[in-house]
Amino acid sequence: MNDETLLASAWRVRDHAYAPYSEFAVGAALLADDGRIFSGCNVENLSYGLTICAERVALASAIAAGARNFTAIAVVADTNVPISPCGACRQVMAEFHVPRVILANRSERLHFSLAELLPRATTGILDRAE
Ligand code: THU
Repeated sequence: MNDETLLASAWRVRDHAYAPYSEFAVGAALLADDGRIFSGCNVENLSYGLTICAERVALASAIAAGARNFTAIAVVADTNVPISPCGACRQVMAEFHVPRVILANRSERLHFSLAELLPRATTGILDRAE
């Protein structure tokens, strides 16, 4: 499985984005360690805060299908510079240890580790001192 295939899935699912308020369509494709790809688009709501980003839709769909281990996620939008995942999505990626994040627009690709995007994501949490 190469990045090309993952990115193609992300672009494909982006066509399904429900984004009547922002008119900003995002696609995400998540690669599980068994080779399955789970994709998601953003799903907006009149109550703006209920909007779900493409990344979390992909992650939720993967978890519901029984996948737990992931190797990469690709996120795409038709932007001037590659899109940047929101903080909430970074936190959810951290929950499931998505190690590699590919961010792309039509002409450029950026590669990050999740640690770069969200340093110290889980350090110390629930680790109570004796
Ligand atoms: N959005 C995503 O789906 N993923 C991102 O990485 C950034 C933003 C969505 C949320 C909202 O529907 C629209 O893009 C504008 O923020």
